[in-house]
Amino acid sequence: MEQTTTQNEVQFSEKAMAEIRRYISHYPADRKKSAILPVLHIAQAEFGGWVSPQVQDKVAEILDIQPIEVYEVATFYTMFNLKPVGKHVLEVCRTGPCMLRGADHLIEHLENRLGCHVGENSSDGLFTLKTVECLAACGMGPMLQIREKYYENLDPQKMDQLLDDLSKE
Ligand code: FES
Repeated sequence: MEQTTTQNEVQFSEKAMAEIRRYISHYPADRKKSAILPVLHIAQAEFGGWVSPQVQDKVAEILDIQPIEVYEVATFYTMFNLKPVGKHVLEVCRTGPCMLRGADHLIEHLENRLGCHVGENSSDGLFTLKTVECLAACGMGPMLQIREKYYENLDPQKMDQLLDDLSKE
């Protein structure tokens, strides 16, 4: 169940806290910080697909570390969203092999179709357009990831069909 943040109060669900405790238990008691990546993933899933400063502060509290230690990680990895996102986050590979197979045209097509630039949300709030580095599907480019799912060998027509299908969900 998605949780909400109000002012400075951030409350994880019991289910999420149980999962967080399970990850923390994999490490020595004085090394809780080692669980920071899975805990941030849980936090992002729990709080609407992004990690606000308040949520990051809560992660720091849970892991007994300074907030800056969480900010450093959350801002380094592109998989963590630092602003509110749409229902569907499109992560388009922009690395060389995908570019050679037309990723730049696909990105341009997406910007036109969604009416937003990379790093922004579509005007209807349904989609967030991001670019990321190689997702290890180089032979099937251009490609993108939405949550855990890959969509490969894309072209503008296939992309439009995918967006139409996602819009109906
Ligand atoms: S270059 Fe795009 S998946 Fe590797």
